[in-house]
Amino acid sequence: MLKDYLQELEQHPTPFFAYDLKLLRQTLQQVKKEADKYNFQVHYALKANTNSPILTEMVAAGLGADCVSGNEIRRAIESGFSPDHVVFAGVGKSDAEINFALEQDIFCFNCESSHELAVLNELAAEKNTVARIALRINPNVNANTHKYITTGLEENKFGINSWELPDVLKQLQQLQHLRLIGIHFHIGSQITDLSAFRNLCTRVNEFQEWFLSHNVALEHINVGGGLGVDYYHPEEHPIPDFEAYFSLFNQFLELRPGQQVHFELGRALVAQCGSLISKVLYIKKGMTTNFAILDAGMTELIRPALYQSYHKIENMSSQLSEDKYDVVGPICESSDCFGKAVMLPETNRGDLIAIRTAGAYGEVMASQYNLRDKAQAVYLN
Ligand SMILES: Cc1ncc(COP(=O)(O)O)c(C=O)c1O
Repeated sequence: MLKDYLQELEQHPTPFFAYDLKLLRQTLQQVKKEADKYNFQVHYALKANTNSPILTEMVAAGLGADCVSGNEIRRAIESGFSPDHVVFAGVGKSDAEINFALEQDIFCFNCESSHELAVLNELAAEKNTVARIALRINPNVNANTHKYITTGLEENKFGINSWELPDVLKQLQQLQHLRLIGIHFHIGSQITDLSAFRNLCTRVNEFQEWFLSHNVALEHINVGGGLGVDYYHPEEHPIPDFEAYFSLFNQFLELRPGQQVHFELGRALVAQCGSLISKVLYIKKGMTTNFAILDAGMTELIRPALYQSYHKIENMSSQLSEDKYDVVGPICESSDCFGKAVMLPETNRGDLIAIRTAGAYGEVMASQYNLRDKAQAVYLN
């Protein structure tokens, strides 16, 4: 429970991110246990959180790394991930990023367009090497999540569309510096309805059939990430249901002998272990509710402003009777609001406020807008 750490939390200048490393370790133990049942390989999606102590835990748990930039690859390797377990996705890989990844001889490039294949081939040729690649295919599966974190629909910019595949296969025959080892998918993030993953399995099976009918054997099937977490009940559900998640893929993916299945999980591994801790600066009377004005804002956690996302807000200092507050930050933007009409115990200046489930896509998206200082990270053991 976050409240168990209250004394420690009270000692640090706010705002800051607090990471519960014990919960992170429990989460990683659980994910490994469930994935190992089926020999599934899990890569941690660094984009969710790139703090060194977090990456150290990922390496210790034996996970691979899923990167979307050259700097993420550099950070992953510096943190101890083996290049043999690094995958690299992204619709806009720059030449410098590709060259760096080639020099590191990473496990696999997840390629997102025919143009990218041509450029990667050229750069690999210059280095007289062969890049292992997986085609990121857009499966046109609806993830039923927020439109900004839906990635697997044909209208999205990600991946190669199914109708392009015949041409891409022809193209690959000419590209001698690429070796096709697999196919890759990622349909979106914060997916809580597992039926979206079941639909993904059906599409993967159809693509597998198609490749086989074109005499292409695939060694690796990468189904991406996207498993959601419970933002509403972080204490009751601190660890996602990895058992149900992996068993669904085991049940519905039709694998060929020797094929390896890969996952790229970010949010599900780190979201619940992090909280943004802030103090109340001011209470101000509004038209219908009071405003609780915090010293943390969208510069620390942009998700509510960007995706209208929900984060549970807790007053850790007060046990008085409840009232309604619009909980807002100090930034000069109306969207700088963590929650409207939130029921909180009577809240006063100086109270410690926890914004829960902020470990993923929180600190990594922080900005220095308004020339704000960067919030520190505190690790709770
Ligand atoms: C290609 C790819 N893989 C994996 C992830 C991780 O997703 P999540 O944090 O939802 O597991 C993302 C997130 O956007 C992604 O773009």
